[in-house]
Amino acid sequence: MNPSEPVALEDVDLTDLDAFRDGQAWAQFDTLRREDPVHWNEEADDAGFWAVTKYDDIWTVDKDSETFTSEEFVNLEEVSPENRDKRRSMLETDGPRHAALKQLLAREFSPRNLMKNYEGFLREITRKTVDDALQHPEFDFVQKISADFPIQVLARLLDVPLSDTPQLIAWGNELVANTDPDYTAHLLDDPESEKYAHLPFRSPTVQEVWDYGRALRDARKGGDGKDLISLLANKAPSDGIPLSEDDFDNYFTLLVIAGNETTRHAISSSMLGLMEQPEQLRKLQDNPELIAPAVEELLRWASPVHHFRRTATKDVVLGGKEIKEGDKVVMWFGSGNRDDDHFENPYSIDVTRTNVDHLTFGKGSPHLCMGNNLARMEIRLMFEELLPRLESIELTGDVKRIRSNFVNGIKKFPVKVTTK
Ligand code: HEM
Repeated sequence: MNPSEPVALEDVDLTDLDAFRDGQAWAQFDTLRREDPVHWNEEADDAGFWAVTKYDDIWTVDKDSETFTSEEFVNLEEVSPENRDKRRSMLETDGPRHAALKQLLAREFSPRNLMKNYEGFLREITRKTVDDALQHPEFDFVQKISADFPIQVLARLLDVPLSDTPQLIAWGNELVANTDPDYTAHLLDDPESEKYAHLPFRSPTVQEVWDYGRALRDARKGGDGKDLISLLANKAPSDGIPLSEDDFDNYFTLLVIAGNETTRHAISSSMLGLMEQPEQLRKLQDNPELIAPAVEELLRWASPVHHFRRTATKDVVLGGKEIKEGDKVVMWFGSGNRDDDHFENPYSIDVTRTNVDHLTFGKGSPHLCMGNNLARMEIRLMFEELLPRLESIELTGDVKRIRSNFVNGIKKFPVKVTTK
């Protein structure tokens, strides 16, 4: 059972960011799945969207990019047609161009390549991160464990100095958590943001990310580097259409932000969940061979991305509702991951659960997360390194969540540990 207070259907509002920050959104999703699984949610500006909350309906939308397109952008924000091309990355591209953009780097993220080129290095930096954190009896879990680690991996993939990682973290926070005043001076829900509507995330900071990426690309053009930037600089997409400046800018930005926040929150939320259900934590500590298969259950549990959006390309019926061409259709992945028609006892972590076909990465859809194997490896290595070292771990203060209905994240997680 979801422990938070039930919410009446008329009080459901998935644009209420404070409800997400305060952990009340889960109760809203429960109400929707039970009473109105494909629900029309009004928005302030007279727009609105269909909130899709059941596992099967989410999968119906996600796998069908002809009926439910990403080309009209994938978050709740309306991006006007004149601003779309400047802001478009592979996330907002469908069809053959999407496939060509994805193919450019897909091999780098294949399990084989990751095992060969990254597992050893990754294990080393995981160990170092854990060693450093455990030097202190009390620390902030996000700061010392979950934030530091994915970004170091990214620095390696991009082949940039480790001294740049604090900047990469700050950019990721500011762009992805752009509805949380602790992270950005340019709040998405502030009318002032209109003047940055032509920029991704409506953030002027993105220009700094672009300048940084372009300088690296220019320096690596013509070289034979194997890092992601060198590949983008020197490899042609399979459709024969070279990357434009905008293509490069948005590809680079996507790489910087996509794997940073999300993996961080996956690790933090999983750890918190295990602390709340200590018999599951103990099971993993006593049987470390369970950690690898349990990663799927932890990903279901953590659901670090709340939603991605599509737009209907024609009139269609979904969950008994008549969706009109042009309507926004929003898949709430975390809600699907708590659907008890699909997962037994969805509010419990069961580290021995099998066949956990969660929606966390977009299942097998055309936009399936390109970094899913990397994220899985990072989470596995972190728990393989951390859990055997812990004698005890407990909270020493309040956990603070990010104010966002896009990322499901934790920003403060103070803990006290004893080690073996
Ligand atoms: C636990 C961590 C992660 C989660 C939960 C996550 C989640 C997602 C989801 C749900 C999508 C689908 C977007 C859509 O349907 O429109 C996606 C796409 C993507 N992710 Fe991840 N992601 C994670 C880690 C990573 C990492 C480590 C990288 C790479 C460095 C990455 C790169 C991408 C890219 C490039 C796409 C676009 C794929 C496409 O449009 O075809 N992600 N991610």
